[in-house]
Amino acid sequence: MVEARTVRESRIVMSQVMLPGDANPFGNVHGGVIMKLVDTAAGVCATRHVRGQTVTARIDSMSFLQPVYVGDLVTLKASVNDVGRTSMEVGVRVEAENILTGVVRHVSSAHLVFVALDQSGRPRDVPPIVAETDDEKRRMAEAKLRRANRQRGDEAVRAMRASTDSRAAILSWRRPDAPFVLVGHRGAAGSAPENTKVSFQRAVDDGVDAVELDVHLTRDGVPVVIHDHTVDRTTNGHGAVSALTLAELKLLDAAGGWKSHGEQRIPTLDEALEWAHGRTRLVIELKGTERPGLVEKTLDAIRLHSMLDDVMLISFDHFALMEAREINKDVCTGALYVGRPADPIALATACGADALCPHWSSVTTEDVAAIHRAGLAVCVWTVNEKAEIDAAMALGVDGVTTDLPERVAFTVPPVRTILPMPE
Ligand code: G3P
Ligand code: CA
Repeated sequence: MVEARTVRESRIVMSQVMLPGDANPFGNVHGGVIMKLVDTAAGVCATRHVRGQTVTARIDSMSFLQPVYVGDLVTLKASVNDVGRTSMEVGVRVEAENILTGVVRHVSSAHLVFVALDQSGRPRDVPPIVAETDDEKRRMAEAKLRRANRQRGDEAVRAMRASTDSRAAILSWRRPDAPFVLVGHRGAAGSAPENTKVSFQRAVDDGVDAVELDVHLTRDGVPVVIHDHTVDRTTNGHGAVSALTLAELKLLDAAGGWKSHGEQRIPTLDEALEWAHGRTRLVIELKGTERPGLVEKTLDAIRLHSMLDDVMLISFDHFALMEAREINKDVCTGALYVGRPADPIALATACGADALCPHWSSVTTEDVAAIHRAGLAVCVWTVNEKAEIDAAMALGVDGVTTDLPERVAFTVPPVRTILPMPE
C-alpha cells in the first residue's frame, strides 16, 4: 500500500514575467502561452505527489477570466485536488500582477487530469491524498463530482459511438431503396420445412437480406440448427436435442409435416455457415443457452467461416449476448424480448446489444424514435400478414423477420423511403 500524502506536500507556486514574444502585436499574451504554463505547473505538482513519471491525460476545463499583458508577472498555484487509482486531478489558479502598480488579478483557472506511469510507461497506482484544510476538502469534493460527471460523459459518448455504428452496420444489409432489412424466419418457415437447407434456399430465392436460424448443442457438444429443445415437433424422432448425439440427430428426417420437399436433415451450424458464405447473411438465435459452450462454439464457427461481419447473434437470454460480446467485442447482437419495457435502451445497454428485437405488435412509433435517437436498430418479428407488414412499415423499423418473405417482398412498395440515419 502506497503511503498517503497531504495536499501541502505537492503544492507548487511558479512565477514568470510575460515577454513580447509571448504576446500578439497589441501586447495581449496568447492563451496558448498561459495554457502551456498551466500544464507545466500542474505536471510538476502531479509528479511531486507521485514522486515518479506522470503524463497529462486531459485538460478538463480552462477559463480565461481577464487578459494578460506583456510585463505582467504571472503566478500559477497548482495543487492536487483528488486522486483516483492511477490518475489525479490537479487544479491551477493563475494570477497576473501589474508590477508597476502592484494590482493582482485572477486571470485563469483550470482542472487537469494526470496519469502516473511506471518505468515501462504503464499506469501505476497513485498515493492517496489527505485534505487538511476546509478549502482543500471543498476542492476535493468538487473534484469527485467532476470525476463522476466525466465518467458518465465518457460512457455516454462511448455508448453513442458504438451504437451509431451499430444501426448503420445493420442497415447496410438492406438492399438499395428498401425500407428495412428483410429476414427469413427459420429460412422461409411459411413455405418450406423450418431450419433446413431447403428453407434457407427458399428464403434467398424469395429475396431476403438475411436468414434467421436457431442453435442448440447436441449431446456431444456440436451446434446444430433446430428451434425446439426437443426433436419431437419438427422431426420423426423423439427426445431432447441435448440428449442426442450429432450422429443420432443426422438420422432423423427434419421435413416435419412437409411432404413436398422430400427428406431433410438437421443442419449443423457449420454447414449452415458454409452454405451462407457469399450467399446471404445469417441472424443466429442462441436458443439452448443453458448448455455451457454454446456461445463460444457459435463464435468459433462464425470465425472459421469468416462470417463475423455477416452475422447478428440474437437471444432472449441477454446474458448469452453479454458473453458473446465479452468473447468478441465486434460481433453484432440483438436483444429479443416480449412486451414493452419501460426503458428499452437501458435493456440494450445492459447487455451491449446493437439492436432491440421486440415482437412487432408491442412496438410504438415513439419507442422506435427513442431507440433510433440512441443510435440502436429495431428489428421486429414475426410479420406475416398484410396488415402486419403495413404496421411495421409505418413504424419505421430497421429489420423485419417473416415466415413468408415472398409475401413481404411482394407487398412492400417498389419505390421506397430511405430512413433517416442517426444524427
Ligand atoms: O426472430 C426472432 C424469433 O425467431 C424469436 O422467436 O421462437 O421463433 O425463435 P422464435
Ligand atoms: Ca428464432
